[in-house]
Amino acid sequence: MVGKGFNNYMNILFIGDVVGSLGRDMIKEYVPKLKEKYRPHITIINGENAAGGRGITEKIYRGFLEVGAQAVTLGNHTWDNREIFEFINDAKYMVRPANFPDNNPGKGMIFLKMNQIEIAVINLQGRTFMQTSDDPFTIADELVKEARERTPFIFVDFHGEATSEKQAIGWYLDGKVSAVVGTHTHVQTADERILPNGTAYISDVGMTGPYDGILGMEREAVIKRFLTNLPVRFEVPKDGRTQLSAVLIELNDKTGAAKKIQRILINDDHPFYS
Ligand SMILES: [Fe+2]
Ligand SMILES: [Fe+2]
Repeated sequence: MVGKGFNNYMNILFIGDVVGSLGRDMIKEYVPKLKEKYRPHITIINGENAAGGRGITEKIYRGFLEVGAQAVTLGNHTWDNREIFEFINDAKYMVRPANFPDNNPGKGMIFLKMNQIEIAVINLQGRTFMQTSDDPFTIADELVKEARERTPFIFVDFHGEATSEKQAIGWYLDGKVSAVVGTHTHVQTADERILPNGTAYISDVGMTGPYDGILGMEREAVIKRFLTNLPVRFEVPKDGRTQLSAVLIELNDKTGAAKKIQRILINDDHPFYS
């Protein structure tokens, strides 16, 4: 029976792209605090940059589950750490972009069960200014159709570069899914809203990790690249100030429609109050 065990709402905490060890430190420190403050029923973490900025390891994935995440989403850096191929097919709570080629390992949609509510978690990747992939709109249609046979609770992490493509998929899925949250650009956007047919939307949740880098990378190398156009290796800072970016989404626990979306940004300029 849908709704049993909830109080008219269901909260989802989603944390944007975790970058390197500083990002993982923020997860360890703040996920317990955020859970205490907001009492989310489900916590989802985007971990595509969690291993030194490039991909994710099994140990990090397990660490996210241990700190209280129920699912880990990915993106264009999914395959950057070769270890992924050894464990992704056994990682029940890991979701990589569903519009990667059919022959890729891993899953693009998983189902979680919280009390009596089942929720589908879908990861998709954009095609504008990104590597080629299958059409995320068509794949979204197929997955939403499959998910809605089981549940109206559907969460989508749309990993994309262009705000236009993100807005387009948000409007396209309005009323068909509970939430479309953007990831990948690492900068939190202030356009969170509930679309008219009940889908929570934000163009980008932002990143979790170094606060004084450029999109989480050491800024000297990035600036050198802009100045010279020469190949430069980007590294993730190992120390320095940190930030966490997230959203809290409240859903109606009967219909799966979104009621509220709230941005969460924690850094020295936006302190956390418990
Ligand atoms: Fe990222
Ligand atoms: Fe990305």
